[in-house]
Amino acid sequence: MKQRTPVVVNILIILVILFVVYYMFVQNTSFLASPFFWGTVVISCILALIHGAIGDLIENNKFQKLTAEEKAEYLVNKKRPYLRTLWESAFKKQSAKEEKDILIDHGFDGIMELDNQLPKWWLGLFWFGVAYCIVYLFAYAFTDFGDPLKEYDEEYKAQIASIAEYEKTAPQITIETAEYSADNIAEGEIVFKTNCVSCHMDGGKGGIGPNLTDNAWINQPEKTLFKNVFHVVWNGSPNNPAMVAFGKNGQLTGKDIQNVAAYIYHINQEQKPITVAEGGAAPQGTPANWEK
Ligand code: HEC
Repeated sequence: MKQRTPVVVNILIILVILFVVYYMFVQNTSFLASPFFWGTVVISCILALIHGAIGDLIENNKFQKLTAEEKAEYLVNKKRPYLRTLWESAFKKQSAKEEKDILIDHGFDGIMELDNQLPKWWLGLFWFGVAYCIVYLFAYAFTDFGDPLKEYDEEYKAQIASIAEYEKTAPQITIETAEYSADNIAEGEIVFKTNCVSCHMDGGKGGIGPNLTDNAWINQPEKTLFKNVFHVVWNGSPNNPAMVAFGKNGQLTGKDIQNVAAYIYHINQEQKPITVAEGGAAPQGTPANWEK
């Protein structure tokens, strides 16, 4: 009679499978606090215990029918630790005598084919793989487990959050530390389109706010164009409350203003001014003579 798998081992296997299934469908370990999970665990354990008890009954019954010799052998076998038997049977080799029984009826050049038993460790892995595949297929088809788009979305959000966290603690950019960089133009354009375009119009050609592409400037508190824009956007205009102090009010960060100043520098210095004939606003203020 074969040695049976102890109930504890069965229960352990059940726990592992339940964990894998729940993890794949819930996708985090929050189920560990759920009564449904623990309910399933308890019910499964009870079933495993009942299964074990029925097995015991059948085993007793069979035992009665054994010969004295078989009984003795059974008792010796039963005393061997289960894990050791499992380990040994996983790597068991067929004996030469058994080989004769599994000889398949064809061969070539004296080389014969044997119908060998597959090693237990291999079979174990195989069945685990099959079970895992089934669970995985269901999880993949009916939940968003393993969905690259969802994972991308989550990671993207986590990164944005960590950038925001970093910027909270990173030193603010001020008019002293702000620097022009061509790399900031694209981001500056976005800031402009969100916050400034309503008054300064497309491309900064001017409307309620002055034309930002020409060389006429009402406000010239700084010597260079870049710092001048930073100054006006940070502090607002002393003459006209329509141009609010975006920086001082906290509407824009120093970084945003550094970006938008780069964009305005770009449209003012690296592109042709948008003239009245092209739909731009007429120059306001006095011609500027910016330092480099
Ligand atoms: C509500 C309308 C309005 C919005 C929005 C606005 N501005 Fe202005 N802006 C003005 C007005 C009006 C002036 C002219 C101020 C003055 O007469 O001194 C001005 C002046 C300026 C000047 C100085 C121009 C000069 O000739 O002195 C700059 C630079 C400027 N704005 C940039 C921006 C930027 C960048 C934004 C977006 C972050 C922005 N503005 C948003 C209305 C606005």
